[in-house]
Amino acid sequence: MSTNEIENLPYMEKYNPYQKAYLDFWKESVADIRKFWDQEARKLLWYRTWDKVLDDSNPPFYRWFVGGETNMTLNALDRWKGTYVFNKVAYYWEGEDGSRRSVSYRELYEEVNRFSKALQDFGVGPNSTVTIYLPMIPELPIAMLSVVRLGAIHSVVFSGFSAQALADRIVDAKSKVLITADAYPRRGKPVETKKTADDAVAIAAKSGVNVEHVVVVRRLGTDVPWKEGRDVWYHELMSKYSDTTYVRPEPRKGDDVLYILYTSGTTGKPKGIMHSAGGNMVYVHSVFKWNWDIRPEDVHWTMADIGWVTGHTYIVYGPLLHGATEVLYEGAIDYPKPDRPWEMVERYGVTIFYTSPTAERALRAYGDEWVDKHEMPTLRILGTVGEPINPDVWHWYNEHVGKGRCPIVDTWWMTETSAAMISPAPGIATVTLKPGSATFPLPGIVADVLDEDGKPTPPGVKGYLVIKQPWPGMPLGIWGDPERFVKVYFSRFPPYFQAGDYAVRDEEGYFWLLGRADEVLKVAGHRLGTIEMEDALLKHPAVAESLVIGMPDPTKGEVPVAAVVLKPGYKPSEELKLELIKVVRDNIGAIATPETVLFVPKVPKTRSGKIMRRLLRDILLNRQLGDATTLEDPSAVEALKAAWDEFK
Ligand code: WTA
Repeated sequence: MSTNEIENLPYMEKYNPYQKAYLDFWKESVADIRKFWDQEARKLLWYRTWDKVLDDSNPPFYRWFVGGETNMTLNALDRWKGTYVFNKVAYYWEGEDGSRRSVSYRELYEEVNRFSKALQDFGVGPNSTVTIYLPMIPELPIAMLSVVRLGAIHSVVFSGFSAQALADRIVDAKSKVLITADAYPRRGKPVETKKTADDAVAIAAKSGVNVEHVVVVRRLGTDVPWKEGRDVWYHELMSKYSDTTYVRPEPRKGDDVLYILYTSGTTGKPKGIMHSAGGNMVYVHSVFKWNWDIRPEDVHWTMADIGWVTGHTYIVYGPLLHGATEVLYEGAIDYPKPDRPWEMVERYGVTIFYTSPTAERALRAYGDEWVDKHEMPTLRILGTVGEPINPDVWHWYNEHVGKGRCPIVDTWWMTETSAAMISPAPGIATVTLKPGSATFPLPGIVADVLDEDGKPTPPGVKGYLVIKQPWPGMPLGIWGDPERFVKVYFSRFPPYFQAGDYAVRDEEGYFWLLGRADEVLKVAGHRLGTIEMEDALLKHPAVAESLVIGMPDPTKGEVPVAAVVLKPGYKPSEELKLELIKVVRDNIGAIATPETVLFVPKVPKTRSGKIMRRLLRDILLNRQLGDATTLEDPSAVEALKAAWDEFK
């Protein structure tokens, strides 16, 4: 971008002295992104430096650090050998049942080398895919790092997903190796992970993908089904390799695949987002520093699950690239008591605490006394991610958790972006915060808000969020589906990356993120596709047509509400409703459980056959904002509304 273009960005004239230090830095970064990212990349270790910072000859398939060679674990582990970091705690782990374990950088390094060797002996090598289905235990980052060390590609599947969802991901990635655990505690009860994993392996085999090795970590010591020859205990496997085992981190090209992570989109099939070995590493390293002003003595805690991107970046790679200490918590955030997180902040001396609005709302709902009795003097920065944060929740977080002395870093980003894109950057310079605004784009990032015709909206007018220049953390593509990558992200406002979110900028240029503009829901911060749920409902023999709408919920942000049209011969009943709810749980997971299933004679559609889920939601909420005249059959809308009113 030319300096002239930057100066003409609508928000550049308006900034006040409190934003100046930051925006001056930002301006320089975006004026020449190649120069800027070149400097950032040089802060890390490479076997070979790149010939080109950015190859943009085949947009939107941008390639970063072309010709460069590195390995994430070289920077996350080996780099700390011989420094004091090697003796530092990498993870304070706490089980839900109160078990505790701390893992030093040295121990992490040794375990990763041993496990890498074991995986190598299974035939895992560069570009093999390994699916990881583990709860929040230290073996999860160990497994990820071991895979990456070999130049192989991990696909971590959230441990709350069902057998079917796990199988779909194993099949798409064609993984021959699966890493799982016996069981883990959730609200005091065991969740039988190995059983689910076995079911998934059986389903995958029907699609012709045979998992040859299942490595099982013993977490609870429960009885598990076992298949000799295929299944192996992690601890037995590891006992074959000594502490001095060494595996050289495989040189990966800047634009090789680092990992894939499946996420929901606007069609039924989850997309395997591919991140790059060089670009993701550089972007995560820089952003982790900017977001948290990370220092050697910090104890950082991202209270999220590694099964989602927030955990990949802010529990595993970000902290380790900085030699930081991270807290890894296994269980429910309010178990056994609603002050579990605050107790843990005090126990470990947490300095930076990062979580989601859903967690903040849930913890607030228990009453202020639970948080007010904890002084938490070590806290210095709070973070929030995953959904828009309501200003009243922001104030509660600020006053009761931060005691009015911790800035709140509201980070807007998504699975596709690798790390935060729009957020305050106390690691560079502070800006005045506004409750509910993620403030400004990070260095190197040019974001804008466009109207339907692709023109920037004036201040105060809502539009679609786009990213106007490539950045190192951008995806390489969608695993096995390059066309879909172009279609989903680059077809609406080419050549810009379309996030799928609504946003608005205010007079001072602050960005306010307003939620998804498409068929994606954020249920308790989890990203789910309405169409995936509709497809799941269609698998039930009674269902002729299905519809899923995201309805607002005071704690979870949004909850899915389903409506179905039954096939002739089927009658609505309480029993059938429960069966339909189960179909969704079985196909996706408990996180997708519909609030209810409404029985309707017809699914309301437009004349061209489109289902307008957002418009229907507004109608159910009695706040009809959109244009309802395009809907084909008013009686279908009335029937849906009547069913909803009856449910309420
Ligand atoms: C939403 C999570 C408002 C947004 C890291 C985005 C947010 C989706 C924020 C991506 C925020 C994330 N304010 N909305 N600070 N952070 N979102 O892929 O709608 O699970 O598109 O990544 O979360 O969800 P994902």
